[in-house]
Amino acid sequence: MEKILVLDFGGQYNQLIARRVRDNRVYAEILPYTTPLEEIKKRKYKGIIFTGGPNSVFDMSSPHYTADILGIGVPVLGICYGCQLISWMAGGEVKTAPVSEYGKIELTHTASPLFANIPERLVVWMSHTDYIAVAPEGFEIVGTTADCPCAAMQNTAKNIYAVQFHPEVTHSEYGHQVLYNFLYEICHCKGDWVMDNFIDTSVQKLREQIGDKNVILGLSGGVDSSVAAGLLSRAVGKQLTCVFVDQGLMRKDEGDMVERTFTTMFDMNFVRVNCGEHFMAALKGVTDPEEKRRIIGTEFFNVFWDEIRKQSDRGYFAQGTIYPDCIESGKGDADVIKTHHNRVKTPDDVEFLGIIEPLADLFKDEVRRVGERLGIPRELVWRQPFPGPGLGVRIIGEITAEKVKILQDADAVLRDEMAKNGYERNLAQFFCVLPGVNTVGVMGDHRTYENLVAIRAVTTDDFMTADWARIPYDILAKVSNRITNEVPHINRVVYDITSKPPGTVEWE
Ligand code: XMP
Repeated sequence: MEKILVLDFGGQYNQLIARRVRDNRVYAEILPYTTPLEEIKKRKYKGIIFTGGPNSVFDMSSPHYTADILGIGVPVLGICYGCQLISWMAGGEVKTAPVSEYGKIELTHTASPLFANIPERLVVWMSHTDYIAVAPEGFEIVGTTADCPCAAMQNTAKNIYAVQFHPEVTHSEYGHQVLYNFLYEICHCKGDWVMDNFIDTSVQKLREQIGDKNVILGLSGGVDSSVAAGLLSRAVGKQLTCVFVDQGLMRKDEGDMVERTFTTMFDMNFVRVNCGEHFMAALKGVTDPEEKRRIIGTEFFNVFWDEIRKQSDRGYFAQGTIYPDCIESGKGDADVIKTHHNRVKTPDDVEFLGIIEPLADLFKDEVRRVGERLGIPRELVWRQPFPGPGLGVRIIGEITAEKVKILQDADAVLRDEMAKNGYERNLAQFFCVLPGVNTVGVMGDHRTYENLVAIRAVTTDDFMTADWARIPYDILAKVSNRITNEVPHINRVVYDITSKPPGTVEWE
């Protein structure tokens, strides 16, 4: 199988680079910059991409690599810090730029295999404070911007290319084509990688790792843990036990649906633990969003650990963590945006042979593709993502059983109307939020002072960014009318028109 190495120098978009390569049907593997050159040579890559990084090449404590890598005959593409590193390694001059470039910048290029089929001027995404002041000998400058005299350079004889901008982010026009050109024009890849290869490789790795031991997985019923369960079920069948903790914060009738699906369609052991009242008691009086998340996450795992304590053998612990969970939980230097509850500490008396996160490198849409290829029913794979803390992060302020019921009923109306109008599969996510605000209304001849409910609906590819969905007014009108008529204690419906950023998908 042809492979591209993404050599990781600590940039924030490194997984995205690997993902864009996979989108081009070529397998990409990420290795840290500490990987020895001998190891890299052994793995016979078709090409190597140096990632960006937060550092400065002339600070000797920043990640560097032996310049010998440029002479092993494998094409190299440097991105941002990776571009400066190539310059530094090959004897060029890197300096603090007189003008830092951030955001969308116009680039002009000259002929290069890297820019094949790309107009001479394009807008690219820049984020740098250093720049290449003098390109190394043997390198030709093939791209410039108003403030960056060397925004792209190449040494065609040695097959080394470098760009100061980030082709992997969607804000870079033709970024996809730049990576495509590197893979196909420069590395001469054939493009024979598909998701099936990911499944085969993962199943094989899981079998090797797990052997004859058992695995336990906390199932939320969402897409990620379901796909992880499907993958593990394919790998080890009944050695897998899925524990489904029903915390009473699921959507209407959802717990039963999850139980039905997993007990009838998968080869595994399934345990459902109903503990709604316990959760409600733990959340009594709590209003702070992060505190709610923490309690729901902690209690979820307390229930889960109790189940594990009942197991006789020590086994592996599996989670449906996907890549965006890793960065949003503050992996590396990224700031904690929200505490996604998948990343946890294990109590001292609960011991595992190890943690298994088979989807940790994938983005949501890739996870869905894996799910489909595994033969998991479309209705489950294309189900909307549902946060681990459930309706708990969609009820602003204190959570009570009454509020959960109001929200479940309003949400069920929204889902019903969206399904009837064919939106269920076409929108990434839609749901109702109960902001805990009462407003004055009039019903019949009576003044009311009841709940406002908000509708949130977004379009997105990867949930890192999102736009609010342009749902036709007629559908919104129908939903509003039905909610106010059918759901007691709601007298007003509003629609959230905020993108991410600056908002997030969920309200808490
Ligand atoms: P945000 O609100 O962070 O949501 O823009 C992005 C996606 O993640 C889901 N989400 C969560 N999933 N645990 C999860 O497993 C969480 O705590 C959590 N918070 C948000 C959200 O529904 C959306 O799909």
